[in-house]
Amino acid sequence: MSDPYPPSEVGEILVTTEELQDRVAELGRQITSDLEGRTPLLIGVLKGSVVFIADLMRAIAGPVEIDFMAVSSYGDDTESSGVVKIVKDLDGAVAGRDVILVEDIIDSGLTMAYLVDYLGGKGAASLRTCSLLVREGRTAPGVSVDYVGFELPPAFVVGYGLDVGQRYRNLPYIAVYSPSEGSSGSTA
Ligand code: PRP
Repeated sequence: MSDPYPPSEVGEILVTTEELQDRVAELGRQITSDLEGRTPLLIGVLKGSVVFIADLMRAIAGPVEIDFMAVSSYGDDTESSGVVKIVKDLDGAVAGRDVILVEDIIDSGLTMAYLVDYLGGKGAASLRTCSLLVREGRTAPGVSVDYVGFELPPAFVVGYGLDVGQRYRNLPYIAVYSPSEGSSGSTA
């Protein structure tokens, strides 16, 4: 018999599948209303946002386009340098577009703040921000987030795109990662 999945290091479910579906549907309705008659360009930040953006785009009742960026927030593997580097830039232009930057989580807020600044110089008709999760009491410096899914307590979470060491992105809910409860695990 194979081992159960996920293993016990994936602990308490903080946001259920149904709560995710309901909230994403609400965000989709809000975006549909806010951008009625327009074609929003959703820009997802790889890789964490892929599950969220896949659901969000289908919750928008109207034309929508997507593009992706990949960034590296850390200069080395031990300490945040505070510098965000672009690893993959946009495929298309944003000039004149109604852009919505889509993140899975705002933690320190450095990534969102950097990308808003970067995209802000590219001549978009409008630039909005959206994050499925935001740490309680935090925000991206200098950025007001237009669409927020859930506020999150200070716990390490996985699922619905969020990973630990690239694992657990496929869980259909958001749960606390508790390696001490399991047999093994890393906090990479
Ligand atoms: C995570 C997340 C955001 C960023 C948020 O990405 O997807 O992009 O960190 O952190 P911040 O608010 O402190 O800047 P990560 O570097 O873990 O890569 P991933 O999306 O590929 O998992």
